[in-house]
Amino acid sequence: MCRGTDNQQKGSSDDNDDITIRHYKNEDQDQVHELFQAGMMSLVPNLFWKSVLSPVFVVVTAVAAMLVLHVSLSLLYTILAIFGMMAILYSISYHAFYGYVQGSIKDDLSKIQEVYIQPGGCFLVAVDSKNGNIVGCVAGEKKGDHKYELRRMSVSKQIQGRGLAKRLIRRLEQECGKKGMLFLTTSYVQYAAIGLYKKHGFQLKKTITYEEGMFRFLSTFELYYFEKELK
Ligand SMILES: CC(C)(COP(=O)(O)OP(=O)(O)OC[C@H]1O[C@@H](n2cnc3c(N)ncnc32)[C@H](O)[C@@H]1OP(=O)(O)O)[C@@H](O)C(=O)NCCC(=O)NCCS
Repeated sequence: MCRGTDNQQKGSSDDNDDITIRHYKNEDQDQVHELFQAGMMSLVPNLFWKSVLSPVFVVVTAVAAMLVLHVSLSLLYTILAIFGMMAILYSISYHAFYGYVQGSIKDDLSKIQEVYIQPGGCFLVAVDSKNGNIVGCVAGEKKGDHKYELRRMSVSKQIQGRGLAKRLIRRLEQECGKKGMLFLTTSYVQYAAIGLYKKHGFQLKKTITYEEGMFRFLSTFELYYFEKELK
């Protein structure tokens, strides 16, 4: 059950700027969608570079380049073929995340009250009091007695690295109560998120290969499952 007051974080030791964490309101929906989309789409280059260096892509591209060279005897066409393969891979990476964002908006981010709040979880937003913009969000979806899934964590690029995600996690833990379990899934290209969760006491429990949507066209896409006992 959600606990705490809307401005509980104000005045706490890490309340070092003009950003206030409060509960989601229906009028926040569009900004939350934009924030979540921006956060996910910022990961496209990570996925692209990880995939470019994968053995499958290297081998397929080398074979394609040799074929083009063999047929055309042109270095220029061969280089163009390599760039073409990279462009296709970038497009797959882009559409993989884009499809994921659209699915997330359809499945839960367009019904935050129904999915998160009414069943006893919570959805928090961080608001920049200078302009009222939403610059961070996180959800705790109730998954059982004292068991919550941390989802939809995103912080605006302009203020990343200033401790907002850390504050969102602390506040979410207060909302979930003192005893219980928080778990989450993130992916192998979310370097900042992995660093964040490891630093904040989450333990990596398992790795899962994800093969849905455009992700199945990548040689591997690994998901990391983390848990944290709340004491
Ligand atoms: C992950 C994300 C929420 C972190 O937000 P943030 O406000 O910048 O994070 P914080 O400033 O609170 O950082 C807290 C800790 O996270 C880790 N961290 C943050 N950015 C990191 C990075 N780029 N690389 C490695 N670790 C990082 C650090 O351990 C940091 O603690 P420290 O500064 O004391 O070393 C943000 O980068 C983001 O929105 N990314 C895109 C969306 C996403 O991946 N969301 C997670 C979904 S599971």
